[in-house]
Amino acid sequence: MSYSEARVIAGGLAHIPIVIGVFGFIQSFILKRIQAKPSVKTPEVPRTSIENPPKPSSPKQQGDPGSSNKTIKKPAHPNVPVNTYKPKTPFVGTVKENYSLLKDGAIGRVHHITFDLSNGDPLLEYVEGQSIGIIPAGEDAKGKPHKIRLYSIASTRHGDDYQGNTVSLCVRQLQYEKDGETIDGVCSTYLCDIKPGDKVKITGPVGKEMLLPEDEEANIIMLATGTGIAPMRAYLRKMFESSERKKNNWNFKGNAWLFMGAPKTENLLYDSDFEGYKAKYPDNLRYTKAISREQKNTKGGRMYIQDRVLEHAEEIFTLIENPKTHIYLCGLKGMEPGIDEAMAKAATSKGLDWSELRPQLKKAGRWHVETY
Ligand code: FAD
Ligand code: A2P
Repeated sequence: MSYSEARVIAGGLAHIPIVIGVFGFIQSFILKRIQAKPSVKTPEVPRTSIENPPKPSSPKQQGDPGSSNKTIKKPAHPNVPVNTYKPKTPFVGTVKENYSLLKDGAIGRVHHITFDLSNGDPLLEYVEGQSIGIIPAGEDAKGKPHKIRLYSIASTRHGDDYQGNTVSLCVRQLQYEKDGETIDGVCSTYLCDIKPGDKVKITGPVGKEMLLPEDEEANIIMLATGTGIAPMRAYLRKMFESSERKKNNWNFKGNAWLFMGAPKTENLLYDSDFEGYKAKYPDNLRYTKAISREQKNTKGGRMYIQDRVLEHAEEIFTLIENPKTHIYLCGLKGMEPGIDEAMAKAATSKGLDWSELRPQLKKAGRWHVETY
């Protein structure tokens, strides 16, 4: 081992007690002070949707001097709009665009769909990382209206055209075989088939799990499979689209690292946009692809994002040691055990215990998961 290698290892080992100490401190701080400010601050929604604030807490919850501290719980992210439109009174949006995101030779159908929200009263506003509900037209087998399906929002709050009155989704048509028959998913097929001008029932927005931190110097590690890219697209637009940077007066300076899983090159979603951001901001964006049916992992199996995580374990954990680092996981539920296993292996190689570290990251608001 060279002197410099020994120094790096010794330096790394010297940081472990500090990291453990910091996590321990964060944990006890959060447990003791549940009324403390949430650690993931969310940027304010710029306009008035905060016309729909959550119900004010009762005086007791707000800190009535006679009440015990344990009952004080500030609502997290109070400025984030939630449920402006509920299932019984959905907003009826108009389809603005609906186009395939796939190249010739790709597997399946994945569409980018944009809805015009402009005649909403109140306007359905949202922030990056939230989802909306869609109620498909028609009735189910029992003659009842279809149930709502949730979809992650793929646009920033400003919309793809920066006018602030649209929302976009990234939808894969669900198809599976049953008794020799191909079954089409109800809502995903409805969404992939709708045409500009069609009216669609929309609810929400919902979700506070996948919000971005406010800090311009945060590090954002993104692990996406398939349509799990939707919230990441919104984050990356906010970070790297020049119109977004100007509009938000938010100039991302941290490290963003996208791990994207797709079956074939032709199935990569928004790939040229991300390559463009990488070319423009090489010091701020890394983009690592796992193309499962074209690339092989070290065991000769399909290349999944967890294999890529293992390849870069050292760098990922160096980033995680930084309290400004957040990790976002979105897409197939099935990837969770694989990612967990990869993180556990990677942690072990750094002398850390993932089963302890993950809950600490979660409590600190730095581990964000939305899988389906
Ligand atoms: P349905 O008609 O509801 O069919 C689904 C049902 O079919 C399943 O419940 C199961 O019972 C059955 N089924 C499914 N596969 C099989 C199989 N292989 N064999 C037998 N039975 C099977 N989807 C996206 O495309 N993009 C997104 O951004 C997105 N974001 C989401 C965010 C959240 C928070 C959640 C919870 C889900 C998200 N989804 C997303 C998934 C989406 O909500 C729907 O579940 C999906 O589109 C399928 O709905 P559907 O109506 O087409 O299928
Ligand atoms: P594959 O289907 O080759 O097994 P899409 O939604 O466009 O199909 O993309 C999902 C991607 O996630 C595919 O590359 C798929 O690979 C991959 N994938 C499937 N199962 C898992 C899993 N358990 N962990 C990680 N990735 C997975």
